[in-house]
Amino acid sequence: MIATKLPINVICLAKRNVFATALRTVSTQAKPTEIKVQDQTFKTDDWTNATPRILELVGRDLHKDPNHPIGILRDLIETRFQNMGYTFYGDFKPVVSVYENFDVLGFPADHPGRSKSDTYYLNKDTLLRTHTSAHEHECFVKCPTEGYFICGDVYRRDEIDRTHYPAFHQLEGARTWSRNNFENEEQMLTKIQQDIDAIPKTEIVVSDTTPPFDPETNPKQSYMTDKETALVGQHLKRTIELLVNEVFNEAKKSAKLAGSTEEYLNEPLKVRWVEAYFPWTAPSWEIEVWWKGEWLECCGCGVVREQVLTNSGIKDTIGWAFGIGLDRIAMLLFGIPDIRLFWTLDERFKSQFKEKTISTFKPYSKYPGTTRDISFWLPESKEGFTELHENDLMEIVRETAGDLAESVKLIDEFTHPKTNKKSQCYRVNYQSMDRSLTNDEVNSLHDASRSILAETYGVHLR
Ligand code: PHE
Repeated sequence: MIATKLPINVICLAKRNVFATALRTVSTQAKPTEIKVQDQTFKTDDWTNATPRILELVGRDLHKDPNHPIGILRDLIETRFQNMGYTFYGDFKPVVSVYENFDVLGFPADHPGRSKSDTYYLNKDTLLRTHTSAHEHECFVKCPTEGYFICGDVYRRDEIDRTHYPAFHQLEGARTWSRNNFENEEQMLTKIQQDIDAIPKTEIVVSDTTPPFDPETNPKQSYMTDKETALVGQHLKRTIELLVNEVFNEAKKSAKLAGSTEEYLNEPLKVRWVEAYFPWTAPSWEIEVWWKGEWLECCGCGVVREQVLTNSGIKDTIGWAFGIGLDRIAMLLFGIPDIRLFWTLDERFKSQFKEKTISTFKPYSKYPGTTRDISFWLPESKEGFTELHENDLMEIVRETAGDLAESVKLIDEFTHPKTNKKSQCYRVNYQSMDRSLTNDEVNSLHDASRSILAETYGVHLR
């Protein structure tokens, strides 16, 4: 499923857990009939699962704060791409339609990314965008330049640990060439080649065994010629290499400044290309970066499918798109050990960062964590038990404990050989980034999570 242990990018929608859809997602908690988000009111229904705590994050706009690590990283990338034909967008609201987030991009009806276990819905037609690709359509329609960048906060129901948070940030890029601007194919190919040659060269060491397309594993689209596909793919790959070079060389500098003497910091940056799949691009790839002895998934991309462009009223046009997750890269750049820190309102965090400056985070204190377990038998059914989606449990812990839940891990699971009943045990680490927690406080949060879990999903607490 996920290629690396610490994927830098968000887990790509196309590869997410296929079990998600099959699993039960029930909530018996009372729901308001309407919810308000950024001055808009939405009628709730059976699909509504966006929680008050998640909705509180909407509008924080960390990517628009020039003195916040996320805003600084965005600025670093956008500055690199100034005067290269891109328009920069950062104001799109995160509430989008199912059409924008999934349908227009060609996500199949049964794609796991659409499930309530993975996505926050306001109601059946409206959701918190799960990726900035939700705005590709709109940008293709209105963008005045050949290319654009979109930065925004995105939301996914997910596990809880130091590198996963249900809200994070993405930067989307896209670039097109219109056949109508050229007299013939030759002329157009010459222009794309010139555009490739104009991309500043990097010292990056690239390993790329992926062909421009592969009929079996990474097909091209029939509306594009082989040469068009090859050149658009090259322009895309050189562009992303430039981006990755900019960001990771900064990350190396900052690691060195922070005192790290690891060998790889003195070696040229190494990246590799691997084939990927996204419903709205073909062929598609992912770039991985060699970082601290591991290949980190960094950015998904591909040649835009004709349907996305024609749905935007654009004909005879070819192009590419990519999406990169910013939060985990910002953790590397700024030496931030826990993704929750991005969202803290503590001045001791915020005051450390300044516009256009990569600096290493100095922990202002470390407060001890304390763990509590939740053990239960899953509700009985014909098969012996009914599954509980891990994200549903995560959500209950998040809703009760908020950012005090540092991590939640499944630590034990077994099926009783005779009764076929299944038991699970999750361990929650409660740890504040800003203060000490009392035992009473942790106990009451933990008890609340346990009761809600039992009430909502019918598990038998042990
Ligand atoms: N939106 C994809 C993700 O979130 C990334 C992507 C963007 C892939 C654009 C292809 C093209 O994983």
